[in-house]
Amino acid sequence: MNTAANPELAGRPDGWWRSAVVYQIYPRSFQDSNGDGVGDIPGITSRLEYLAELGVDVIWLSPVYRSPQVDNGYDISDYQDVDPLFGTLADLDALIAAAHQRGIKLVMDLVVNHTSDQHAWFAQSRDPASAKRDWYFWRPARPGCEPGTPGAEPDDSHAAFAPSAWTYDPASGEYYLGIFSPGQPDLNWENKDVRQAVYAMMRWWVDRGVDGFRMDVINLISKPAELTAGGPIEPGQGSLRRVANGPRLDEFLAEMNREVGLDEHNLLTVGEMPGATVEVAQRVTDPARHELNMVFTFEHVNLDQVGWNKWDLADLPLPVLKGNLASWQDGLAEAGWNSLYYDNHDQPRAVSRFGDDSPEHRVDSAKTLATVLHLHKGTPYIYQGEEFGMTNAPLTRIEHYLDVESLNYHALATAAGVSEEQVLRSLAAKSRDHARTPVQWDATDNAGFTTGTPWMPVNPNHDQINADAARHDPDSVFAHFQKLIRLRHSNETVQEGRFQLLLPDHDQLWTFTRTHGDETLLVVANCSSEPVEIPTDGLPRLDGAELLLGTHPDAAATTLAPWESRILRL
Ligand code: NOJ
Repeated sequence: MNTAANPELAGRPDGWWRSAVVYQIYPRSFQDSNGDGVGDIPGITSRLEYLAELGVDVIWLSPVYRSPQVDNGYDISDYQDVDPLFGTLADLDALIAAAHQRGIKLVMDLVVNHTSDQHAWFAQSRDPASAKRDWYFWRPARPGCEPGTPGAEPDDSHAAFAPSAWTYDPASGEYYLGIFSPGQPDLNWENKDVRQAVYAMMRWWVDRGVDGFRMDVINLISKPAELTAGGPIEPGQGSLRRVANGPRLDEFLAEMNREVGLDEHNLLTVGEMPGATVEVAQRVTDPARHELNMVFTFEHVNLDQVGWNKWDLADLPLPVLKGNLASWQDGLAEAGWNSLYYDNHDQPRAVSRFGDDSPEHRVDSAKTLATVLHLHKGTPYIYQGEEFGMTNAPLTRIEHYLDVESLNYHALATAAGVSEEQVLRSLAAKSRDHARTPVQWDATDNAGFTTGTPWMPVNPNHDQINADAARHDPDSVFAHFQKLIRLRHSNETVQEGRFQLLLPDHDQLWTFTRTHGDETLLVVANCSSEPVEIPTDGLPRLDGAELLLGTHPDAAATTLAPWESRILRL
C-alpha cells in the first residue's frame, strides 16, 4: 500500500494545515554540507533537529530541481530530478523520511507557469514542426517589422527581469514569451497536453511522499485572450499585471486538484498570486470549489511602493498595513483561508522593513511583529532566519548584488537616467538579496553556514545575531517564536477565532480581538519605537485579563514600552 498517498496514514487528517506553522527553506542559503559554499539537501537534513526544536509543522522547500540557476532554481530544466548543486533524489528521499520521522511535513515548490529554456519540452518546441511548438507562446514579429530588429517584438511588454517579455529565436524567425526572463519561457496552459504532463509530474511527487505544493505565480497560468488567440497583441506596459488572474484560472486549478487528487490526499496547497484581489482569493480558497487551500497575497508587501513599481518607494503608515491585513481577514472570514507572511526569499527582512533593526529595538520589534502576524487567522509562514530576527544586509554598491532582478533593474533604471544614488536607495530597501544571505547559525567566520566560501557573503552582524545565541537565550526572538507556535497548536481561538481590528486609525498601536465560543483574545501591540499609553476608549476593559504571552516583564503597566506587545485572554 502506498502510505504516502493515503492521507490518514501519511498523517494528514482533514484540514490539518489549519493549525500548522510552515517554515520556508531557501536551500542555497540554508546549510552547506560539502564545503562548496552553496547550501544543499544533506545540509537541511542535518538541521532538522533545530526545526523540531522551533516547533514548526511543515517545511516549504524552495526549488531543488535540475536548473541552470538563471533565477536560482525558479527556472527548471527537469521537474523529476534534483540539481547536483543540491544533492541527489536519494538525498531528497532521505530528507523527506527524516522530516516525517520527526512529524514534520514537506511541501515542494511547484514552478509550472514557466520552465527553463533548457527544459527538453522547450528544446523540442523550438522546432516549428514539433507537436511541442504549441506548448509555449511563439509569435511572429510585429507586422511591418524585420524579425529580430529592435522594436520588432510582438508587443512592448517588459519581462520582470529583462527589458522585453519576448525573445527572438533566429532559427524559426519567431519570438517566445518569457514574462520573467528569456531563461524562463511561459508554458501554454491552453494546451491540454501541457496540463496533463504537469499533473502526471505532480502525482509522481505525491507518490514520493510530499505533503503538498507551494505554487509559483500560479495565477499567471491562464493567459488573456489576446495572447491565447494568437492574433496581434495590444502593446502593453508591464506584462505581469496583464497576465494575472486570467479567464480559465479557476477551471485549471479545479482540474489540477481533481487530476492530482490534491484534496483527496489532504495535501497543503498554497498559490503564490501577484495581483490577486481578496475576491480572487475568496473564489480560489472556497473549500466547496476544490481549488487551493490558500493563496499568498502581495497586497501588503506592495504597500510601501507606488503603483506596480516595487522600486518606487513609498512611506507605509501603520493604519494602511493593518487595514490591509484586516481586509483579507474580513474577506475570508466565512469561507476560504489566509496565509500569513511578511518574509520570503523575494522580500527584504521584516524586522528591517516593518520593525526597527537598531540594536536597541531589533529583538522587541521582531517579537512584536511576530506576535501580530501569528495571532491573525490563517496559516503562518516563517522564512529562514526570521525566527531569530535576521536583518537586511549592508548592500551599498551595485557590486554587492547578485540577484537577476536587482541587476536588471539597475541596468534599466540607470540607462533611463535615474541617478545611481536613487537606484541604490531602492535596492537597499527592496532587493531580494537581503533575504538570500546565508543563515547565521553561529558567530564563527562563515556563520556555520559553510566551511568553504559562501556563494553570497554572510551578513557581518552574525557575530551578534545568530541561531546559536538565540537558542541559548530564554528572552530571544527564537524563544518567542517557539511560544507563538505552541500557542497556535494548543489554542483553538488562535486557530479558528473570528478576527476584529480595533483602533484602525491609531498610528502606533496594532490591536485586535480573536473570538471563538466563549473565549476572546485581545492583542495589543506597540508597533513603534516610542512608548504609547493604552487608550481606554475603543478597547475592551483590561482589568482581570489574563496574560498569555508578552514581550516585557511588567504586563500590567498602562503604558506600552517601544515595540511591546501582549496577548491577553479577556
Ligand atoms: C516567484 C518566485 O518566488 C520568485 O523567486 C521567482 O523569481 C518568480 N516567481 C519566477 O519564478
